[in-house]
Amino acid sequence: MRRRGIFITFEGVEGSGKTTQIRRLARRLRKEGIPPVVTREPGGTALGDALRRLLLDPASAGMPPLTELLLYAAARADHIHRVIQPALERGRVVLCDRYLDATLAYQGYGRGLPLDLIRRIHSVPPLGLRPDLTLLLEIDVEKGLRRARRRDEALRSSGEGRFEAESLEFHRRVAAGYRRLTLSRRGYRRIDASGPIGEVAEKIARFVLPLAGAIRTERGSRKTAGEHSRIHRSVVARTPRSGARGGAGVGRRAVARRGGR
Ligand SMILES: Nc1ncnc2c1ncn2[C@@H]1O[C@H](COP(=O)(O)OP(=O)(O)OP(=O)(O)O)[C@@H](O)[C@H]1O
Ligand SMILES: [Mg+2]
Repeated sequence: MRRRGIFITFEGVEGSGKTTQIRRLARRLRKEGIPPVVTREPGGTALGDALRRLLLDPASAGMPPLTELLLYAAARADHIHRVIQPALERGRVVLCDRYLDATLAYQGYGRGLPLDLIRRIHSVPPLGLRPDLTLLLEIDVEKGLRRARRRDEALRSSGEGRFEAESLEFHRRVAAGYRRLTLSRRGYRRIDASGPIGEVAEKIARFVLPLAGAIRTERGSRKTAGEHSRIHRSVVARTPRSGARGGAGVGRRAVARRGGR
């Protein structure tokens, strides 16, 4: 299947600010004339939302890790098929709140399921789809959990707290897993998410806007499939080396560095 848009995923432990930052970035992209498709996992479709309720409901405590993995994979396949892939084919920027890396971090590093099993399941279409860029929002696990619990209290929401209720040890394994994943392939960006919301948003925007801008379609002008795939290749080439860290202008520097090697 031909892909012409840009697929960006947001990852990080509970309360690291993924949802907050996606909202800010989406607003910014809309202002720039690049309205993104914003979606989340589990969820994004009617079936996905039904599975989300089951997966995040504290009443589902004790579900075997394999059940958990397969439910996430089931929701994701539906999500890719109905939402993500069609949006990418229309040339859209897709911002997704958690994706495959969350499964590797939580069900793999957190629950102890073999990473190899998770990757094999995610090699079967449509699960083979990989992001062009993954932003890992990094924050101290306890600080993130405090933020998430304060938010839940303020919203009086308790229906999605099953993972928040896990032990600190579990969350530390997840955080360490996320860090290890950033070393495993290109296309990750680690973002220090411990500062104020606006500061984190600025780091993300300075990095994403130039990438997203590359596929802006001028009103009334249509890009051909060939133009789209050329732009797409250039954007992907600009994604950083794994484990890289930092903010402004880094995408361009990363390209310059790679060119010099
Ligand atoms: N940089 C920040 N500084 C202070 N508070 C923040 C910051 N970012 C987000 N918050 C607040 O922390 C809470 C958690 O943020 P948010 O819901 O965006 O995190 P999340 O990563 O989506 O969490 P979850 O993994 O539970 O979905 C919210 O109340 C949000 O307003
Ligand atoms: Mg969230």
